[in-house]
Amino acid sequence: MKSIFLGPPGAGKGTLAVKAVEILNVPHISTGAIFRSAIAAKSPLGLKVKAIIDSGKLVDDETTIELVKERLTEDDAKNGYILDGFPRTIPQAEALDTFSKVDKVFNFDIPDDAVVERLSGRRVCRNCGANYHVTFNKAKQEGICDSCGGELYTREDDKEEAIKKRLVVYREQTAPLIDYYRQKGLLTDVDARPDVDEVVINFKKALNLD
Ligand code: AP5
Ligand code: MG
Repeated sequence: MKSIFLGPPGAGKGTLAVKAVEILNVPHISTGAIFRSAIAAKSPLGLKVKAIIDSGKLVDDETTIELVKERLTEDDAKNGYILDGFPRTIPQAEALDTFSKVDKVFNFDIPDDAVVERLSGRRVCRNCGANYHVTFNKAKQEGICDSCGGELYTREDDKEEAIKKRLVVYREQTAPLIDYYRQKGLLTDVDARPDVDEVVINFKKALNLD
């Protein structure tokens, strides 16, 4: 299945994608994670996008589209993928239509106050990118990743000002994709408000797998 995870920052797209990979047996492709790896590696792409991402704005469409177009040519994505965080603008969605045919779009529905709570408590592994939360999804040992032992840190864009900016950007540039895909008959809503286990159940229902 070729699918898109759509939803505001902090909806839990990345967290669910880790579980969905096992259910659907397809790769999880997160543009945000690709950008963060590039930033960590101080590659030309990373140097170009660091300030933009830290402030909560979007990377330009041309750079992002090119990145995804190339990633989708890799063997593991031939029969399916989960695109997490792409497309994020109408031009990105229109471009994607020209190089891949998406089967389903899952729209993760959650109010702003819950998003702020999730993002302000998020901790991310510097080494493998795994997501934790200081209240909802604690690491066994504080500050250390359960799966690889890496150091946990707070993303620069999870600071208050950047969270506010990301929500504005989401509303202005990304939320119009809900109607774009609904009109194409591809959209399924998933209630992202409950705890992770229940969101997994809601996701399976949306897949008709329950
Ligand atoms: P990206 O990395 O995609 O960030 P985002 O969309 O803002 O989404 P997040 O990763 O913040 O949230 P999430 O929904 O994955 O939530 P998570 O599972 O972590 O993008 C970062 C930046 O890169 C963008 O701002 C932009 O600059 C750039 N970029 C990326 N793609 C781009 C594009 N296409 N075009 C242009 N620019 C692009 O969960 C959040 C927290 O909540 C965690 O702590 C988690 O443990 C917790 N949690 C998750 N689920 C639950 C639950 N059910 N109950 C309780 N807690 C939960
Ligand atoms: Mg994410």
